[in-house]
Amino acid sequence: MLPCGLISRILLNPVFVTAPNIDTIVSLAKRRGFVFPSSEIYGGLGSAWDYGPLGVELANNIKQAWWRWLVYERDDIEGVDSSIILNRLVWKYSGHEATFHDPLVDCRECKSRMRADKLEGYFPEGGGPFDANARLHDGLVKCAECGSTNLTEERYFNMMFRTMLGALADEDDPTALAYLRPETAQGIFINFLNVQTTMRRKLPFGIAQVGKSFRNEVTPGNFILRTREFEQMEMEYFVKPEAEHFKLVDEWVALYLEWFKGLGIDTANLRLHEVPKEELAHYSKRTVDIMYRYFPEREEEGRQWEELMGIAYRTDFDLRSHSSKPTDEEGKRVNPDSTEDLSYFDESTKQRFYPHVIEPAAGVNRTVLAVLMDAYSEKTNDKGETRVILKLSPQLAPIKAAILPLAKNKPEIVGMAKAIKRSLQPVLRAVYDDTGGIGKLYARQDEIGTPFCVTVDHQSLEDEAVTVRDRDTWEQERVKVADLAEHLLKRLKPYPIVAPEVS
Ligand code: GAP
Repeated sequence: MLPCGLISRILLNPVFVTAPNIDTIVSLAKRRGFVFPSSEIYGGLGSAWDYGPLGVELANNIKQAWWRWLVYERDDIEGVDSSIILNRLVWKYSGHEATFHDPLVDCRECKSRMRADKLEGYFPEGGGPFDANARLHDGLVKCAECGSTNLTEERYFNMMFRTMLGALADEDDPTALAYLRPETAQGIFINFLNVQTTMRRKLPFGIAQVGKSFRNEVTPGNFILRTREFEQMEMEYFVKPEAEHFKLVDEWVALYLEWFKGLGIDTANLRLHEVPKEELAHYSKRTVDIMYRYFPEREEEGRQWEELMGIAYRTDFDLRSHSSKPTDEEGKRVNPDSTEDLSYFDESTKQRFYPHVIEPAAGVNRTVLAVLMDAYSEKTNDKGETRVILKLSPQLAPIKAAILPLAKNKPEIVGMAKAIKRSLQPVLRAVYDDTGGIGKLYARQDEIGTPFCVTVDHQSLEDEAVTVRDRDTWEQERVKVADLAEHLLKRLKPYPIVAPEVS
C-alpha cells in the first residue's frame, strides 16, 4: 500500500550522515544553549527538559514552518488553539479513560518496572491474537535491563495526568476530576462544527493545532524523545465517508516525507512502519509511522529506529463518539451527555453523515531532535582541529546572521557592526558578538548552525563593505553594506525564513 517509488528511494539510498548518537546532541545542546536538563539545581526531574535561548528559536521555527506549510500555503486547512484541560467527558467518550493505558510488568530479578509491550517476545512472531500473561508465564518475554524472563503478570496503568478543578475540590470528588490532555486531537474534534460553520467549510478540509500534551509515560527517556510533557503538531483532515480511506494515509505519508526533507532531514534516515493490526490505537483502522534513525550507534539495524510521527486513519470514530444522536441496538443514545450532533450535511447529495478523518500527528520535540541529529557534522580545518558544524536548514537556524567586529577595541568598527545588526534585525534574526577572536567566533557560530557570519574590519570603514562567510563552504565574499540585507535574503530565499520578512 505504500508508494513504490518512495520505498525504493528509501531502500536504495542506505548511506546516511548524522550525529553518532543522541548523547553527542545532549552535550552540544547543553553546551550551546539549546536544551537544559529541567530543575537541575534541585537534582533534576526525571526526563524533563527546558529549551534554552537557541532551542526555543529552533522549536519555534519548526512550528512556524509547519503552520505555514499547512495553514497558510494550503487553502483547505484552518488552525485552532484549544484548552489543555477539557471537560472530563471528552476523555470518557474519546475512549481515553477506558483504554489509554500501557501494560506494566516488573522484573523479579533486577526489580525494573517496564512497559510490557516494548519487551522482546511480547508479541508473537507473525502477529495475530495472543494472551500476554500466558506468554509472560511461559518465559517468552525478556526483561530489557537484565534479560531475565522472571517477570510479573502485566497490569494496566492509565497514562493521563489527573488534576482537580477548583480551589476547594476534594481529592475524591469525581465532579472536580480533570485531565491534562494526552493528545491535542480531541480539542479539534470537539470544535469541528464551530470551525466548519464559522469558516463555511465544505469537505474535504482540515484543522491543525500545535500545543502541549501530557502523558505519564512508564519509561520516559532518551533525552527529548520520550518525555511526560511534550508538544504535538496535529492535523485532522475531514473527508466524505464514501470509501475506506486507506490510500489517503499513503498520500499524507508522502507529503510529510517531502516536508521532513525540506527541513533538511536526509531521507536515508527516515523509514516507514506499517503498524500491525494488534498494535493499532483504539481509534485507528490503519496507521503508518514515519521512523527516524535516532540510534545509529546500535549494531542491530532494526533497533536503530523510533517513531517520529504517525499518520492514522481514524474513520468517523471521534466525531461519532462525541455526538448526541447515535444509538445502540436497543435504541439508547450511545453518548447521553453530548448536546451536539457533529455530523455534516452535504448540500450536493442532500445526505447527512459523520466525516472520516486522516490524522498526521507529529511531535515537535522529536522533530527538533531529528533535525539536530541530521544537521550534525564535523569538519577538520587546515590546522588539524576538528570542529562541529550544525548544517541546519537556514529556515530553521536560530540565528541567520552573526555580525562580528574584527577589532573590538576600535569604537568605529564596533559602532558600525552594531548598526548593521540593528538594520538587519527587522528582516532576519541577527546577533552581534565580540566576545572572542574571529576564529573562535566563527567556530561558535558554525556549532550553532548560523548560515552567515558578517565581519566588519578596518577596510569596512573605508569602503562601506563587509565580508560574508558561508557556514558550509567557509567561502568569503565582500559585499557592500547597502546591499547586505538583499544579498542575505537572496541566499536564504530557497528556505523561506520564518521570522518577519520585509519586502
Ligand atoms: N493524536 C494521535 C497521537 O497522539 P501518537 O502517536 O500517540 O498519536 C503523535 O503521538 C506523536 O507525538 C508521536 O509520533 C511523537 O512524535 C509525539 N509523542 C507522543 N508521545 C510522546 C512523548 N512521550 N514524548 C515526546 N513525543 C511524544
